[in-house]
Amino acid sequence: MSPSHPFRVLIHRDEILRRIHELAREVRADFGDEPPLLVAVIEGARTFARHLQQSLALPVVVHEIRASSYGAGTTSSGLVALGPSDGLDVAGRRLVLIEDIVDTGRTIAALRELFLARGAVECRVASLLSKPSRRVVEVDIDYLGFEIPDEFVIGFGMDFAGRYREIGEVVVYDEGQAAAYGT
Ligand code: IMP
Repeated sequence: MSPSHPFRVLIHRDEILRRIHELAREVRADFGDEPPLLVAVIEGARTFARHLQQSLALPVVVHEIRASSYGAGTTSSGLVALGPSDGLDVAGRRLVLIEDIVDTGRTIAALRELFLARGAVECRVASLLSKPSRRVVEVDIDYLGFEIPDEFVIGFGMDFAGRYREIGEVVVYDEGQAAAYGT
C-alpha cells in the first residue's frame, strides 16, 4: 500500500501495473526467445524497470545508467551527464532503454546515440510516460505507457529534488500541497 499524500493523482497504480503488463507482452512478442539487454536510466526509471522486468518473466538483468537533464528544479537544463555505468558491453546486442519520462527527448536521444556508437545493433525505447508537447528532439518510443500533459509529475519512482519516489502512483507535484506531505 502506498503512503497517502495530498497530490492530485494523474495515473492510478492499478492502471500503471496493467499497462506495464501489456508493454511486457509487446516486448516478448518482439524479441521472442532472445531477450534484449535492458538498460534503465536511473534513478527515475528504476521502479518502472523492475516492474517491466518482473512482467517479462524472462531471465533478464536490468543494467543501470545514470543520466541527468534535471537538477533540483523543474525545468530542463538540457544537459546530459553520463555516469559510471559505462562498462556495459553492448556490441552486437539489441537493447531496450528504459526511461521514466521522455520530456524534451534529449536524454534518450543522447543515450541511443551513445549505445549505437558503441556497437549495439538496435536500441529501442521503453518509457512509462511521455510529454509530447515538450519535445525538442524527436524520439521514437517503441513501448510507451502513457502520454501526459505538460505537468511536473512525481511518484512511481519519479522525484522532485530527490523526494516523493515512494508514492506508488503518478501524481502532479504542487508546491502548496507539498507542505502537507511530511518533511
Ligand atoms: P528529457 O531529456 O528532457 O527528455 O528529460 C527526461 C528526464 O527528465 C526524465 O528522465 C526525468 O528524470 C526528468 N523529468 C522530466 N519531466 C519530469 C517530471 O515531470 N517529473 C520528474 N522528472 C521529470
